[in-house]
Amino acid sequence: MAFIIAIDGPAASGKGTIGRALAADLGFHHLDTGLLYRATGVKGGDPVAAARGLVAADLARDDLRSAEAGQAASRVAAIPEVRAALIDFQRRFAMREPGAVLDGRDIGTVICPQADLKLYVVASDQVRAMRRASELGADPAEMLAQLQERDRRDSQRASAPLRPADDAVVLDTTDLTIEQAVAAALSAVGRRRAT
Ligand code: DC
Repeated sequence: MAFIIAIDGPAASGKGTIGRALAADLGFHHLDTGLLYRATGVKGGDPVAAARGLVAADLARDDLRSAEAGQAASRVAAIPEVRAALIDFQRRFAMREPGAVLDGRDIGTVICPQADLKLYVVASDQVRAMRRASELGADPAEMLAQLQERDRRDSQRASAPLRPADDAVVLDTTDLTIEQAVAAALSAVGRRRAT
């Protein structure tokens, strides 16, 4: 059976970087599920139809990483029919052998509650804003306000809100380098594989 790693957490906490590094190290597949919501949000028109009609080219657009796409994603992600339209794709991806790493907001709670390892990655608001600002060449204060607005919407929505699964391992990356965060995640994988 495929080994499934679910990584959740707020925006810019480091979950994408950790997810990619874990997948590369373990030879697993990696899915950044935020891209599905970003692609739905930037497509325009009816979001439910956009989510149902997503194709590979939608996920390859070069404007998906922008702050505007992040906000649009967070808004469409609150619509239950949009989330429902994206469930099967994510669950099928998770079954890929020899294993898969999925990062998002509801992977450990809704998409893969049976995941072998659940990580919940957090970092202080200030550090997350600085990281995102340097990534996008944007103003840290503006990024801070945007991240906080997005986190509020993502954690207060009725449908699959952002929250740690009861059995998630919490990883705080505030004071960690990327290498230290990845090493901590890999040791959590090692502990789980040993049991
Ligand atoms: O991870 P990200 O910043 O690319 O995600 C963009 C938005 O998409 C995020 O603010 C909320 C939504 N999202 C979600 O609701 N569920 C997921 N599994 C992934 C992302």
